[in-house]
Amino acid sequence: MEHSMAHKHVVILSALFLGFASSCLAAGSEVHIEDVSFSFEGPFGTFDQQQLQRGLVVYQEVCAACHGLRYVPFRTLGDEGGVGLSANAVKAFASNFEIFDAELDDFRPAIPTDHFPENDSVGAPDLSLMTKARAGFHGPAGTGLAQLLRGSGGPEYLASILVNYTGEEKEEAGSILYENTAFSGGWLSMAPPLSDGLVEYADGSPNSAHDLAMDVTAFLTWAAEPKMMVRKRMGLTAVALLILLSVLLYLTNKRLWAPIKNQRET
Ligand code: HEC
Repeated sequence: MEHSMAHKHVVILSALFLGFASSCLAAGSEVHIEDVSFSFEGPFGTFDQQQLQRGLVVYQEVCAACHGLRYVPFRTLGDEGGVGLSANAVKAFASNFEIFDAELDDFRPAIPTDHFPENDSVGAPDLSLMTKARAGFHGPAGTGLAQLLRGSGGPEYLASILVNYTGEEKEEAGSILYENTAFSGGWLSMAPPLSDGLVEYADGSPNSAHDLAMDVTAFLTWAAEPKMMVRKRMGLTAVALLILLSVLLYLTNKRLWAPIKNQRET
């Protein structure tokens, strides 16, 4: 009896360990994702407003040529805790984009209540939810294991896709593929979109390809989860309240049982 119990434990433990080890290996061997410490990581992390504004420029000047952002309304660019543009800046920014108005049956400049346009001109995926869609990189089934162990998740994946080009190209079935160590399969059809100095920031912030990649990744993480700061604040408040509740319950418990404890001692 005792022997079989012990045996059971060994089996369960080794199954757990094997599952754990293989998922780590599976995540590690195929693709190469670097850890990046983004400002918005951790329970106290917040978006860096300046960085989001720079990332918006990179998206507009580079990525928007091929990728849409169809789930993001322009007006949210004015939200606090996010990009934080003024109402006038949001209006001015939106008017740079043309959207198709079904009522007019024609294109017109976008207004703040419109969403960023879709773009499927070259078959590039919409980027609105990309950092969430690649949450698999948080670990197997989005458990957060990879993030816990190696600090990598959806944003890291996106940043790595932008900087992990090896420079190798090949032609396959008439289209050119580019080697990228972050992409599962190793080859994708997006040419390296960023290069040093490709975008000039108005305030002269550093603009190497790496800087541009980090900035646009921060912006796209905001696009996928604009309420991240609210969520974190609510979580912290909940934890603080639970701690307070625990302390009160402990004190109440002591007080309630005090007469009985005292009885025993005397
Ligand atoms: C010239 C067009 C073009 C530009 C510019 C471009 N992309 Fe892409 N992108 C593509 C195409 C096409 C794909 C699909 C690649 C594939 O699946 O082989 C893609 C795929 C992606 C993917 C998805 C990878 C995956 O896991 O499936 C991400 C993320 C991405 N692009 C981000 C960006 C960002 C960020 C920018 C701006 C810095 C950008 N792209 C600029 C064409 C472009």
